[in-house]
Amino acid sequence: MTLVAPPPIPRAAGSLPLLGHAIQLVRDNLGFIASLRQNYGPLVEITLQPGTRTIIVQDPELIRTMLVDLGPSLDKGRFFEKMGQLLGDSVVTAAGQDHVRKRRQLQPAFARGEIARYVDIMRDEVNAAVDTWKPGHVLDVREAMVKLSLDMLAKTVFSGSLDETTFRRLRRDLSVVMNGVGARIMLPDWAEKLPLPFNRRFNQARDAVRATIHRAVDQLQASGHGNGDMLSMLLRAKNDNGEPLTKHEICSEILTLAVAGTETTASVLSWSLYELARHPDVEARVLAELDGVLGDRPITFEDITQLPYLRRVLDEVLRLHHTGWLVTRRTVTATRLGPWTLPAGTELAYCQHALHRDPALFPDPLVFDPDRWLDSDRQPPSSAFLPFGAGKHKCIGDRFALTELVTALATIVRRTRLGLREPVRPVARATVRPQTLKMTVRPRRAPAPGRRNSPMS
Ligand code: HEM
Repeated sequence: MTLVAPPPIPRAAGSLPLLGHAIQLVRDNLGFIASLRQNYGPLVEITLQPGTRTIIVQDPELIRTMLVDLGPSLDKGRFFEKMGQLLGDSVVTAAGQDHVRKRRQLQPAFARGEIARYVDIMRDEVNAAVDTWKPGHVLDVREAMVKLSLDMLAKTVFSGSLDETTFRRLRRDLSVVMNGVGARIMLPDWAEKLPLPFNRRFNQARDAVRATIHRAVDQLQASGHGNGDMLSMLLRAKNDNGEPLTKHEICSEILTLAVAGTETTASVLSWSLYELARHPDVEARVLAELDGVLGDRPITFEDITQLPYLRRVLDEVLRLHHTGWLVTRRTVTATRLGPWTLPAGTELAYCQHALHRDPALFPDPLVFDPDRWLDSDRQPPSSAFLPFGAGKHKCIGDRFALTELVTALATIVRRTRLGLREPVRPVARATVRPQTLKMTVRPRRAPAPGRRNSPMS
């Protein structure tokens, strides 16, 4: 048998000495990555940072091989390494056995039974947010969704462990960390050492979050019992030798959960409200389903799986507006990917946003159509729709996120109508999100019975 050598991996056009593809990436990073799918085959090489080479994996089967089959043997790559340097090592940044251990420790906090208890907290946070939206006013929906997502996550982590003033301070500090981390991951290492206000603010906020969590852990340990929140769960978590997580490890996990679980949820919520405003027929079907299932009562955990149309709307948002910009990995040894053998140290990446818009995989990919998920002729191969990734690093918060998304949308759309005011442009920062999303607030109905009065009632 003669072995045929695979074709060489092409290098994307337009790379400049010293700058690589920096100009295309600064000008329009999403457009640049999408153009690779049109112009090149399964693998293509680009320069994300001067001096580095990254292979973009575009073929769904090779993406699956990278995430699932090669998952245990690959490092997570430069982006995640940088996150670890900034926020501490966590399940998000770890690879190999270290990752297995960290994931096992965290898993109980995301178990079905725990999430059932978080729904009431999430719904209260949504109602409190909607209470502040004044009819007739213009709402910065993106900003409101970031705040809401952070509140939902922070309240589930700390509901019983912090007094209100400390919680507000922690939320403010976490928000500085979240806003700063995306830019830092993209910047060269030396930039974050410059004595600039931007760097000082980030470092102070991160240290303040750590100090607050340390104090909360001390108090919980001194009290000798848990509060039923996620922090109490993390305190009970043990490693394989039966040892609990250290305070430093708990802080790192919470900081990274805030980053992994806030911008993502906020972007999906923003895009969902945008698509519902653009498609009144879809919104009417969502409302009819909610009326049929909930009547006048607020949403509870048991309802989350009883709303198939809302779930299809969310799947369609996760397809058309996926928040994932580039997910990275790195080979540790010479590694076979399809017919290619990649040397140790090769940086790999894939873009969910571009994958989910590929016309070869999704007919009419730019059309928002929740019913495509019912049509057997339009189903993509399973490796082409990866809202929460795949393999050993698949999102640990997938069930938590879907619960938040269904709870938040069900609560928001029954109380308000949000009207679009201007065209919206996607940008890829830490996530792919609307650059700005301003919408006009119109009342729909009062909050469910049993809730306090609000400006909207
Ligand atoms: C709609 C919202 C979300 C989306 C689209 C999303 C997407 C993803 C994806 C694609 C990955 C895999 C990354 C990789 O392959 O390296 C991931 C990992 C992860 N996500 Fe999410 N996520 C969301 C919400 C959340 C939430 C709410 C949390 C936590 C509260 C969370 C925590 C994590 C963690 C800890 C990991 C790392 C898992 C590991 O490496 O074992 N995510 N997420």
